[in-house]
Order: sequence, then structure tokens, then C-alpha cells
Amino acid sequence: MIIAIDGTTSSGKGTLAKRLAAQYGLPHLDTGLLYRAVGKAALDAGVDLMDEASCAALAMQIGLKDFDERELRTAGVGAAASIVAVLGGVRRALFELQRAFAHRQGGAVLDGRDIGTVIAPDADVKLWVDASVEERARRRFLELSGMGEVVTQSEVLAMLKERDARDSQRKDAPMKPADDAIWIDTTRMTPDECLARAIEIVEAKRGKKKT
Ligand code: DC
Repeated sequence: MIIAIDGTTSSGKGTLAKRLAAQYGLPHLDTGLLYRAVGKAALDAGVDLMDEASCAALAMQIGLKDFDERELRTAGVGAAASIVAVLGGVRRALFELQRAFAHRQGGAVLDGRDIGTVIAPDADVKLWVDASVEERARRRFLELSGMGEVVTQSEVLAMLKERDARDSQRKDAPMKPADDAIWIDTTRMTPDECLARAIEIVEAKRGKKKT
């Protein structure tokens, strides 16, 4: 069973993906980490984030490994990830890795922006996870402050709006729900409620397949 989870930053899709994977005993790939790893590599090497050939070359060196999430989850690396993710060459360099992960024997859970539309349009279950931008800013602010970053909630709100615009307006694989994705709005949901709703959706899909 392939479960594709797409949605906006800080919507709760990452937490949901992890918990769904544990629930069904499936491997999980947070595809945002791949783009974050490319963004971080470009920042470290002093490469221009819009230099497609150089960023694509860095992306080709990215493999599935234990990513250092503390290094990759900073606001600066997130912004860099969103910029390099616009580049077609970077997306092509990361495509096979994600596709192979999705189609491994037994299935997988992947979360990102284009899983249901580009990486695994054949996924058994497609979820689109979103929340109001104000609520997402509140969550992200708490997360970043917890990591010791000095930011205000209104700066985070502006950052999220900029990121949403760039992710959804890019030409290549823009962030958008697949036509057959089921929406979960987590604005007023706890992570437990969100998981329960997702399990309900997965079970309904599985029930339908059997009949
Ligand atoms: O989910 P995240 O915040 O870790 O993702 C960081 C950036 O990576 C995001 O702003 C856009 C990009 N991304 C993408 O373009 N496609 C994906 N499947 C996952 C992430």
C-alpha cells in the first residue's frame, strides 16, 4: 500500500506521515528532507541557490541516509530548500530516489508537495493536509523558538506566506492536491484526531478494494 501525503508547511503532515507509517508498519520518507539536504549543501558550498546545474549536481549526490534533522530543520535551510525546489534539474535528480522508495515491495508512506501528483500518482491513498496560515505560523513559531531560533510570530507568518507562494506557483511539480486526494484540515485538530481521521480514510479505501 502506497500512502501519499501532501500539504503545506507546518500543517501537521510530517507528524501524521510518521504516525501512519508506524500504524501500518510501513517505511516512511519525508521528501522535504531531500530538498533541505540540497539547500544545505548549496549554502555550505557557497553555490548560488538559483544555479540549476550546480544545485542539480549536488542533488545527484543525495542518497537515502540518516539525515541530521537538527541541521536541516532550521528556517534558513527551509527557505533554501524551497528555492532549489523550483529548479527542474534538482527535481529530476531526486525523482528516481523517491519513486523507487514509493514502489518498494510492501508499500511506503511518503510526504511532500508532489507525491500524489508526480512521484506516485498511482498511490492507494492520497491525503492533502492543510491548516489556516495563522495556525501554521503559531506552530512553526513554537517549533523554531524551541530550537533556539530568534524570530517573531509575524516574521514566521510572512515566511510561510512567501514559501506557500513559491511552492505553489513554480512551473515544475507545483504544490497542489491531486484531484483524487482527500482533504484533512488540521486547524482545529489535535495530532491524535488527525491520525484517527487518516486511519478512517485508509480503512475505507482498503475496504473498498476488497469488495
Ligand atoms: O516539507 P518541508 O518544509 O521540509 O519542505 C521544504 C521545501 O522543500 C518546501 O518548501 C518545498 C520543497 N519540497 C518540494 O518541492 N517537494 C517535495 N515533495 C517536498 C518538499
